[in-house]
Amino acid sequence: MSDRIKVLVVDDIPETRDHLAKLLGFEADFDVVGVAASGAEAIERAVALLPDIVLMDINMPDMDGIAATELLAAKCPTAAVVMMSVQGEADYLRRSMLAGAREFLVKPFSSDELAASIRQVWTRERDKQSRMATSVAAATSRGAPGVEAGTVVAVFSPKGGVGRTTIAVNLAVAAASLGGRKVALMDGSFQFGDVGVLLNLSPKNNSIADLAPALEAGESESMETFLISHSSGVRVLLAPPSPEQAERVTAVHAKRAIEQLRASHDLVVVDCTATFSETTIAILDEADVILTLLSLEITSIKNMRLFLEVAEQLGYSSSKVRLVLNRADSTLGIRVADVEHSIGRKVDHTIISDGRSVVYALNRGVPFFLSNREAQVSQDILRLATAIVGPGSMAASAADTKTGAAAAKKSLFAWR
Ligand SMILES: Nc1ncnc2c1ncn2[C@@H]1O[C@H](COP(=O)(O)OP(=O)(O)OP(=O)(O)O)[C@@H](O)[C@H]1O
Ligand SMILES: [Mg+2]
Repeated sequence: MSDRIKVLVVDDIPETRDHLAKLLGFEADFDVVGVAASGAEAIERAVALLPDIVLMDINMPDMDGIAATELLAAKCPTAAVVMMSVQGEADYLRRSMLAGAREFLVKPFSSDELAASIRQVWTRERDKQSRMATSVAAATSRGAPGVEAGTVVAVFSPKGGVGRTTIAVNLAVAAASLGGRKVALMDGSFQFGDVGVLLNLSPKNNSIADLAPALEAGESESMETFLISHSSGVRVLLAPPSPEQAERVTAVHAKRAIEQLRASHDLVVVDCTATFSETTIAILDEADVILTLLSLEITSIKNMRLFLEVAEQLGYSSSKVRLVLNRADSTLGIRVADVEHSIGRKVDHTIISDGRSVVYALNRGVPFFLSNREAQVSQDILRLATAIVGPGSMAASAADTKTGAAAAKKSLFAWR
């Protein structure tokens, strides 16, 4: 990628095409390298011109923007698609993102919105490419002793209600119980975060919304003041108490918060939402491991298949994405083997269903790992935590934190 952003404009209406090319021509950092009037022409031109960004109309007569985006991922993987549509429905957005589009703009949009979106996508892609280019070196250095940056684990699922928050909270608590590690838990579900409820933390506490100005200013000293200490030893960065406040938190804030938490903790667990929002993608990009949850339900399995395709397009290695089957023993007519066959991958970890322990703990605001340590579900969580951070050293002191980080890395990279 050079410093000027190379854009290919694709729209079947000549006036729209020219208008967009002109608008972008006014921006000093853009270079409109070509235009195309159809999906097929877009692919041909992209292969020849190697644009950074393809600004793609969704509705075109021969091949629509979604099909063209899918083909582009194979033929010109370095081009990032910004989709344009007059329809703003969630289904269009979802299908575009699954096809590999990086951004979705609803027409009409202002020239400022257009330029800002393209710049944002370009910056993200550039960061991703440079990260991928250095991933081998990073893996080696992260595994080396004495490297202090912690491991970031995003707990994600492409379907809601499958147990992300339950597992994120108990995983963090279990990892802290192993001793010798500083563990942070960030609620990445900014609009409807439940982490505080599961840990019985008052919503009056500080949240990431209060931290946003400091994150913007690049101040890292403030983080400490905004973390809430839970009795388990886990330090929590809460989601904002209301959806209005959540609007103040952007993908950049999420990314910076994770960077700062990673610098001062051995393990950072992030509870994500089930949507492919810009924020979620920023969190998943930052993560070393994406614990992707699924359940024995047909909709969960279907969405998982789609997510695995998206993960590949986002450049996530298959070892970064770990599959966790929650409520694995539910007898609902689908077997684990059926799931593995359907998604073409083995499940990496399983957690059993234990409504009694889980819901009782939830309603009391005490993680089940603390209130019912002997239960099988707690043992499953402990096994998951150990797979991520390595075996515990209960007697380890805070001074052993670095060793803990090194053990975590070793364990993490043993998966690869
Ligand atoms: N292993 C389990 N055994 C029994 N119940 C479980 C288990 N895991 C989660 N649950 C229950 O499933 C419900 C959903 O869990 P949770 O809120 O953690 O899911 P989520 O994916 O975070 O949902 P949301 O989309 O609302 O954020 C809760 O009632 C929880 O207690
Ligand atoms: Mg949740």
